[in-house]
Amino acid sequence: MKTVARKLRRDGRSIGFVPTMGALHEGHLSLIRRAQQMADTVIVSIFVNPIQFGPSEDFEVYPRDLARDAELIANKGVDYLFAPNIDEMYPEDFVTYVATEGLDKRLCGSSRPGHFRGVTTIVNKLFNVIAPDYAFFGQKDAQQTIIIRRMVRDLCMDTEVVVCPTVRESDGLALSSRNQYLSPEERQAARVLSRSLQLCRQLYQEGERQVSKLITAIRELIEKEPLARIDYVAIADVDSLEFLVELDEEDPALVALAVFVGTTRLIDNLILKPETES
Ligand code: PAJ
Repeated sequence: MKTVARKLRRDGRSIGFVPTMGALHEGHLSLIRRAQQMADTVIVSIFVNPIQFGPSEDFEVYPRDLARDAELIANKGVDYLFAPNIDEMYPEDFVTYVATEGLDKRLCGSSRPGHFRGVTTIVNKLFNVIAPDYAFFGQKDAQQTIIIRRMVRDLCMDTEVVVCPTVRESDGLALSSRNQYLSPEERQAARVLSRSLQLCRQLYQEGERQVSKLITAIRELIEKEPLARIDYVAIADVDSLEFLVELDEEDPALVALAVFVGTTRLIDNLILKPETES
């Protein structure tokens, strides 16, 4: 892949890169479409990155269907698929990691120690192989986008990070490869994540600026759903990820949550900003 990418650059073609772990859905495809609009050539990677999974997480059972994914993206006109194997990415004596210290311990980082170090390390490696002009990430994983942007800035990487909106089911549930784990009852219960964020947005639009009140409203709604168990609900600064106490009229705020529905951990988020929210 390195040789291909080098040749593309020599030929003056811009490269748009979409890193994924496969089990592709409409969320991934939205990133691919954006990449196709912005770059001459689009490269998608599929790699279930072992070092971003904790010991008791779902690495072993994470949905994998490379043949189906490869066919899907070929039909969508993706130029290259990069699907390295584990030994290629992590030889036995691999010892070098990239970490965004501090940021990687906040929000999801406190429930998933080592997760973001795994993400920044693999994204760094993939960027080194491909050297993309643009790389596309989903707002669905808000903390991941903040961390990757910071890594790119801190390490003077020559790639523009493009963040694309969260794609949702018609009832609001954010698309995720992990939604496949949900039973029909859990799938219904999972609507509570986006519903609680909508409630938060509504209260904000009505003028509520106290973080504790917004968080309580979110928590109370989720706690009414018997199949749901809150991991965390937080409102944080969009750059530092530090918890906020009161929202001001200028700065956007990230409302992020992680909720177990049955045994599946789902995440969702919302950016609050005066006037327009996304
Ligand atoms: P994965 O979960 O496969 O997601 C790949 C990309 O798709 C991420 O940027 C993610 O935010 C985006 N995505 C997932 N669901 C989305 C949705 N509903 N709407 C919009 N975008 C969505 O994120 C990872 O893989 C990995 O951590 C990775 C960056 C590949 C590093 O291993």
